[in-house]
Amino acid sequence: MSTHIQAEKGDIAETILLPGDPLRAKWIANTFFNNPVCYNEVRGMLGYTGTYKGKRISVQGTGMGIPSTLIYCHELINNFGVKNLIRVGSAGSYQENIGLRDIVIAMSASSTSGINNSRFANADYAPTANFDLFLKAALYAKENNITIKAGNVLSSDEFYEDDPEAHKKWAEYGVLCVEMETAGLYTIAAKHNVNALSILTISDSFVTGTHLSSEEREKSFSKMIEIALGTAS
Ligand code: ADE
Repeated sequence: MSTHIQAEKGDIAETILLPGDPLRAKWIANTFFNNPVCYNEVRGMLGYTGTYKGKRISVQGTGMGIPSTLIYCHELINNFGVKNLIRVGSAGSYQENIGLRDIVIAMSASSTSGINNSRFANADYAPTANFDLFLKAALYAKENNITIKAGNVLSSDEFYEDDPEAHKKWAEYGVLCVEMETAGLYTIAAKHNVNALSILTISDSFVTGTHLSSEEREKSFSKMIEIALGTAS
C-alpha cells in the first residue's frame, strides 16, 4: 500500500488509463474490462484492474489538476511499477476547427502551472508525449476511421480564469485546447523513464461558447476510451 492507494504490489497492471473523475474510472472498468476488481477506495479515488482482449489493464481516477495527478502518478510508478500511463480526459477547445466531441491527442503540453518553473529555475521544460504510444494511438484511430487532431495543449492551473480573453494568446500560437493535467503527467513520466500519453475529448468550446451535456459527454467519451484501449492492447 502507498500513501493514497490501498492496493498490494501486483494488484495494478503495467498499463493504466487515467481519467480525472473517479466515477469515470468505475464506468470504464464496468463497461470495457472483463472481471474488473476494485483495488482502491481511499478518498473515493477509485481504481480497478481487469482484462481487455486478454491483457491485464488498470484504470485509476486522478482528481483534477496537476498536483492531484502527480500524487497518483508518483505512487503508481514508484510503488506499483506502472509503465504506460494513458490519460483520458476532457478539454475546452481554443480553435475554430476543433468542435465539441472532437478528439485531441496531446503531443506536448504548455502550462500555467508553477511546478516546472520551480523544477527548472528560469528555464522552460517542454513536456512531451511518448512517441510509441502516440504513434499507436494515431494509427489505431486511422485504421478505425476515427478523426483525431494532434498538437500542443494547455495544462492550466485554473478552470475559472480572471481574464476572459486569456485563451486568445494561446490560440494564436497554435494551442489546440485547455485541460488541467497533461503537463504534469508528461513531466513525471519523463523523470521516471516511463511512457505517457494524453487523449482528450472536447467537452466545451471557447470559440463558440457551447458545451456538452453530461449525457453527451458519456457517449462521446466512448471513442476516446476505444483509442486508449487500442493503444494499450
Ligand atoms: N476540461 C474541460 N474543459 C475545460 C476547460 N474549459 N478548462 C480547463 N479544463 C477543462
